Amino acid sequence: MKHSRPRWVIGNWKMHPLTPLTAKELALSLGNSLQPFLQNDSTCIAIAPSVLHFSLVEQHCPLTLCAQDVSSFGMDVGAATGDISAAQLQAMGAKLTLIGHSERRSYLQESNDLLQQKVQQAIHAGLLVVFCVGETKEAYDQGKTLEVLSEQLKVVSGFDCANLMIAYEPVWAIGTGLTPTLPEIEAVHRHIKSLRSEVLVLYGGSVNETNASSFVNSAWIDGVLVGGASLVPEKFAAIAAAFAAL
Ligand code: PGA
Repeated sequence: MKHSRPRWVIGNWKMHPLTPLTAKELALSLGNSLQPFLQNDSTCIAIAPSVLHFSLVEQHCPLTLCAQDVSSFGMDVGAATGDISAAQLQAMGAKLTLIGHSERRSYLQESNDLLQQKVQQAIHAGLLVVFCVGETKEAYDQGKTLEVLSEQLKVVSGFDCANLMIAYEPVWAIGTGLTPTLPEIEAVHRHIKSLRSEVLVLYGGSVNETNASSFVNSAWIDGVLVGGASLVPEKFAAIAAAFAAL
């Protein structure tokens, strides 16, 4: 199976860096490192900074902007202290957003109902949703990965695949240096595509400049979601280079 649609390399900065100056330096450096891959039709490269750094990144780095989260409230503007609506993010230049990252599911107890509202809001605002799913180590050890994922995927069952990508991120692989084997990842992606044949499925969890090339040749992997390595321009550029096949 050839990849007929562009593949995605998305960097998730999470709650980094500390200061606007560091964010600006990082954005400039990423922009320079990734410049050779920006004209490549087969790869889309995006970065998900903190909203605080959106303008800086947009000014200094020509990558597609991704949000890390959106408000679940059903309004573009209004009385929702501390929240940022999908429409506001779209107005700031975001083209896509993560929803359901495992850190938010676990630290903030984001429920499936809440996630469904967020997906609804994001799509309503015209954002492409990167919906994150993944099993815990315990579920993995018990062989319950597909069961867990099928349940998590019910959240997006009513939404059109044109507005969605799925990021398969095993909780135990995030920030640990561990990854499932390639056949394990492919089996999960195949399962997701058996439920939603049109959807793009990215892999995330300890993707780095060394293992990226092993994901590139898989017909089942439509891109990667990168945490730690996206904060190091040379590493993120090496991952993008692997996907852009340059
Ligand atoms: P990691 O994070 O690449 O640092 O494992 C991935 C993610 O949380 O999206």
